Amino acid sequence: MTDLLDAAERLGREELEALQLTRLQSALRHAYDRVPFYRTAFDRAGVRPEDCRTLSDLARFPFTAKTDLRDNYPFGMFAVDRSEVRRIHASSGTTGRPTVVGYTERDLDVWADVVARSIRAAGGRPGDTVHVAYGYGLFTGGLGAHYGAERLGCTVVPASGGMTARQVQLIQDFRPGIIMVTPSYMLTLLDEFERQGVDPRSTSLRVGVFGAEPWTEQMRAEIEERFAIDAVDIYGLSEVIGPGVAQECVETKDGLHIWEDHFYPEIVDPATGEALPDGEPGELVFTSLTKEAMPVIRYRTRDLTRLLPGTARVFRRMEKVTGRSDDMVILRGVNLFPTQIEEIVLRTPYTAPHFELRLTREGRLDVLTVRAEARSGASAEQRAAAGASIAQAVKDGIGVTVGVEVVDPETLERSAGKIKRIVDLRAAAGSRS
Ligand code: DLL
Repeated sequence: MTDLLDAAERLGREELEALQLTRLQSALRHAYDRVPFYRTAFDRAGVRPEDCRTLSDLARFPFTAKTDLRDNYPFGMFAVDRSEVRRIHASSGTTGRPTVVGYTERDLDVWADVVARSIRAAGGRPGDTVHVAYGYGLFTGGLGAHYGAERLGCTVVPASGGMTARQVQLIQDFRPGIIMVTPSYMLTLLDEFERQGVDPRSTSLRVGVFGAEPWTEQMRAEIEERFAIDAVDIYGLSEVIGPGVAQECVETKDGLHIWEDHFYPEIVDPATGEALPDGEPGELVFTSLTKEAMPVIRYRTRDLTRLLPGTARVFRRMEKVTGRSDDMVILRGVNLFPTQIEEIVLRTPYTAPHFELRLTREGRLDVLTVRAEARSGASAEQRAAAGASIAQAVKDGIGVTVGVEVVDPETLERSAGKIKRIVDLRAAAGSRS
């Protein structure tokens, strides 16, 4: 295995940290010199790039938030001349302006390298065929996976998202060993395999590289069992580069190794912004160490996780993401994440791995209803028992009362990419009253 690792993966921890410090110092300098936003922010905080003498000095620098990117729409965060920008991606953003990101030729090169490294960690090898069902376009998933797989020396099937029946056909005909897709869309593919009468365990697939949304150990078990594959986690965000910021190794499946030679992680208290020691849960913050077109300094991801020491690689790991702080539901003072419900629904007999969370308001009270789909063939009694068991598990495990509806098979909307778990009907109710 070690002969397959690239040079950075073979560094010792001290060598890695020395490399990080050199790169961090030049990243801070690059941002300060080339992006007015960073210059103003550093000046306001009273720090200069040369004040970063150790890695922990980074904590003295100001944060960057998604709103800063929006305020500088479209190209205000770029640190290079427009003629140097080879590609642009953007995230749709549910409200208002999209977030725009840019890449130089070297950035695209680094991106392909880290995704290639990710696919290799997932168990991919040169010569493998990789079916990419992440969406192609402004979303970074499709093209990010694509160039990484090519860089590793794989044959890429650029399927993109959607046209589910055709995807199933392509998988049978082209016989890929690897699939890269959101876990929720993998479940949509599962339904389609079954609809076409094809045993999902009989395909050529041996590894799935799943990311772009939170998913749980229970979901891993479900997908691995139903498809007879290894399911591993890939993490990333457009602002930092796209997919390939961190990747789980197939041999350990113990969280995601952050490619720390390019992306420097910190965990901070989401409320106070205080930097927290490794092992403590909090919000993940990234500083890009090598990005040219759009460096990010202490970018607040809003993703909640914790940092753990390296195992299969020298790089630190991040635990599977619990959720985004934006997706946290506060119900009568109790914090609840969709992943907690996923764990419960997936371990409950007679419910399928499909659910949504409906938020409504009754009087002045927020009400959460878990709508979970029954497995086909479940009897009325079994469905009722499943509903009661979910409600009880939420009460015992999370400490809050929720409503549960077990709906008919095939009634909840299926994912075509990133799934939206929360259906918030509170504003609608408010405007009527
Ligand atoms: O989702 C990049 C990506 C594509 C990652 C394909 C992995 C695979 P954005 O659209 O900018 O980029 O969304 C980034 O998605 O901040 C997390 O909230 C969430 N996310 C991404 N990967 C994971 C993961 C891409 N493995 C946002 N687990 C991030 C949990 C994830 N959440």
